[in-house]
Amino acid sequence: MTIREQKKLDLDKIMESDPAAVSRGVVKRTYTGYKALCAYRRAHRYWQRGLHKLALHLSFKAKTKTGIDIHPAAQIGARVFIDHGVGVVIGETAEIGNDVVLYQGVTLGGTGKESGKRHPTLEDGVMVSSGAKVLGPVRIGAHSKIGAGSVVLKDVPPYSTVVGVPGRIVKQCGKRVEDTELDQVRLPDPVMEEFARLNKRIYDLEVAAGIHSCRYSLTVDDDNLPSDGEDNQ
Ligand SMILES: CC(C)(COP(=O)(O)OP(=O)(O)OC[C@H]1O[C@@H](n2cnc3c(N)ncnc32)[C@H](O)[C@@H]1OP(=O)(O)O)[C@@H](O)C(=O)NCCC(=O)NCCS
Repeated sequence: MTIREQKKLDLDKIMESDPAAVSRGVVKRTYTGYKALCAYRRAHRYWQRGLHKLALHLSFKAKTKTGIDIHPAAQIGARVFIDHGVGVVIGETAEIGNDVVLYQGVTLGGTGKESGKRHPTLEDGVMVSSGAKVLGPVRIGAHSKIGAGSVVLKDVPPYSTVVGVPGRIVKQCGKRVEDTELDQVRLPDPVMEEFARLNKRIYDLEVAAGIHSCRYSLTVDDDNLPSDGEDNQ
């Protein structure tokens, strides 16, 4: 496919995805994400022909103009939309499929621990929201969504929604995934639990010594509460 054809497909994607896109002409002139992608597509051709210095120079110029840093060796498919784009970083060994949308502040980076393939692979139709970081040679399955501000360090199966730091899957194929490991609403409170245990011990000692004067904390299991007559409150 020629670069001209690639640019046309990228424009088509923007016109389809962005309700704010007024016309193709305006997008061409004012969308930094589109401009950065055009520069990448040329730089990538140079890179493939072994003209690495020229490719890197082109990338550098695009980065200074748009604030979007795409390594010319990265592999990026067709119909890709980088919305707004400032702060987007796409590493050297990153692979991006077709119909992918990236928002501003997205990093497709390395963890700093690997060599060789060290950047993520995004399959077709993936969306990575603003500020999200996908780090390491992980694979994000087709049509998955990465929530704003998430940090993803593990593979994600297709059709998933991932949010949080570290990223966890909250939806799969449109259905909510229950977090079986931890109830995020009723988080355990170890300090409170320890107080409750101490309260109970004091109460038991007072009962044994016949000096108990008040009900112990309601945080202690109700089954152990004394009967009303017994309680001197
Ligand atoms: C993740 C996102 C794409 C929504 O995907 P979705 O599959 O429709 O998921 P839902 O909206 O049903 O959210 C699923 C759960 O994740 C939570 N969630 C969604 N986005 C989240 C985020 N960024 N961080 C933390 N939790 C988030 C929701 O509150 C919801 O939790 P609940 O089930 O306990 O209520 C969206 O929330 C998001 O992050 N959009 C940002 C897009 C963006 O970058 N826009 C910038 C334009 S300039």
